Amino acid sequence: MKIVKFGTALLFAGCSLALGLGAARADDTLFQDLGGRDAIVKIASDTTDNFLADERIKATFDNTNMDRFRRLLGEQFCQVAGGACAYTGRNMHDSHKGLHLTNADFNAVVEDLQKAMDKDGVPFATQNRFLARLAPMQHDIVTK
Ligand code: HEM
Repeated sequence: MKIVKFGTALLFAGCSLALGLGAARADDTLFQDLGGRDAIVKIASDTTDNFLADERIKATFDNTNMDRFRRLLGEQFCQVAGGACAYTGRNMHDSHKGLHLTNADFNAVVEDLQKAMDKDGVPFATQNRFLARLAPMQHDIVTK
């Protein structure tokens, strides 16, 4: 009986430890596969450059502080990838609601991001894993 009690206590302790470690260490596999913080910040910066060179969408950014935008996109990409980064910007609904964006706008943004990831040597499969994390945001961003 004593052995059973001891065993149960040990099992309980083991589970608590496993849960504790799991909570402390989020899955950062995608963050690592994208190359870590500096590589992700560069992808965000290259994507921003592509937006400003893209005739389809560049006018949308006419009234935007692009230094702030570039920094926030880097923070957000890093956080979404699973890195230990804090995104300090507004949520996607609030920051896009006044822009009346379409699915075509969204697709242009995705293409510009893909172009940046190609340039930065991100393998196709990794690109798709990252895009899959951004895809659910479409509901908040496209309002037209
Ligand atoms: C998954 C897709 C997208 C992501 C992850 C994204 C991300 C962001 C982020 C992080 C911000 C900064 C939020 C803030 O100001 O606090 C932002 C703002 C902005 N985004 Fe997006 N965005 C996306 C789609 C789009 C699309 C499709 C367009 C238009 C073609 C667009 C145009 C803008 C503009 C113009 C701003 C600045 C608004 C302002 O200055 O107030 N975004 N976006």
